Amino acid sequence: MIITGNYPNLRLRRSRKFSWSRRLVQDNDLSYNDFILPIFLTDGKAKKVPISSMPNVFRYSIDKLKSVVDKALKLGIPMVALFPHTNVKKKDEYGNEALNENNLVCQAIKFIKKNYKNEIGIMCDVALDPYTSHGHDGIIRKNEILNDETLEVLIKQSVLQAKMGCDVIAPSDMMDGRVLKIRKALDKNNLKDVQILSYAVKYASSFYGPFRNAVGSKRQLKGHKKTYQMDFKNNYEALREVSLDIKEGADMIIVKPGMPYLDIIREVKNNFKIPVIAYQVSGEYSLIQNAITKKLLDKKSIYESLVSFKRAGANSIITYFADQIKLDKFK
Ligand code: PBG
Repeated sequence: MIITGNYPNLRLRRSRKFSWSRRLVQDNDLSYNDFILPIFLTDGKAKKVPISSMPNVFRYSIDKLKSVVDKALKLGIPMVALFPHTNVKKKDEYGNEALNENNLVCQAIKFIKKNYKNEIGIMCDVALDPYTSHGHDGIIRKNEILNDETLEVLIKQSVLQAKMGCDVIAPSDMMDGRVLKIRKALDKNNLKDVQILSYAVKYASSFYGPFRNAVGSKRQLKGHKKTYQMDFKNNYEALREVSLDIKEGADMIIVKPGMPYLDIIREVKNNFKIPVIAYQVSGEYSLIQNAITKKLLDKKSIYESLVSFKRAGANSIITYFADQIKLDKFK
């Protein structure tokens, strides 16, 4: 890169002087088109339950979904992501509830498709952790998370969700080879247009804590997820993961967590031209929320945190702030 000119001929502050001028030269911007809104689901009727680990985030019963989806639609948010808080009584070693066509996620998909047709996209996680008694994403034998045996269940979970009307299947389990198997199964079931958004780069992170509380898997979780989620000391492994998932048929990929991993988003974006979705995870969300409550941070910090993803190269962002932030205020 060549810098022509020098002070006092060159004054970079000139373009910063007025708002019109700053807006004219900005590289990045943020709109509701950039957001995916996660929604937590709960059993029961007329429920909007606060989540202690995530201030201002709620679990909704199916009959209460309308309020939150209406709001997302009004703001112009393109897609919602569904996460179930499964009753412990329905959890077992194999996560069988994942394959129940009347489980919370399936009920929510049916409700949204019936009421909103294709006005808003639906994304669903594929993984067993909300449904297993041990809180792991896969099936366990002798303390080992079994890869190939788990794939067989994930395929069924994907096909079920897609049949119910899910638009975007998002495997978050980090088993090897799942994208190819899921793609094949979807195609075989005449679900060729259902997209796969792979959690290609998912690190074993402490920033997922508040989410595990939200879906009720925190107390269940035995041990750690380091044998399948990535080691956060690695960067180049992220490129191998993305490369594999592209070959296996992923339409888009996720990098997760978000803010501590902006370098990875940039690295992926520099190497591949596939849409990259950043996940600003629960721990990042709660950190900022708590700091705002304690008046340590201003609400503008939310906006700044979200723009950082765009700057790093993300096409869009999964964020719990999606339906809370008033973008016009921060322009
Ligand atoms: C489930 C899943 C997790 C998150 C999204 N899907 C938790 C985990 O892997 O333990 C985390 C999201 C967040 O923290 O906001 N596999």
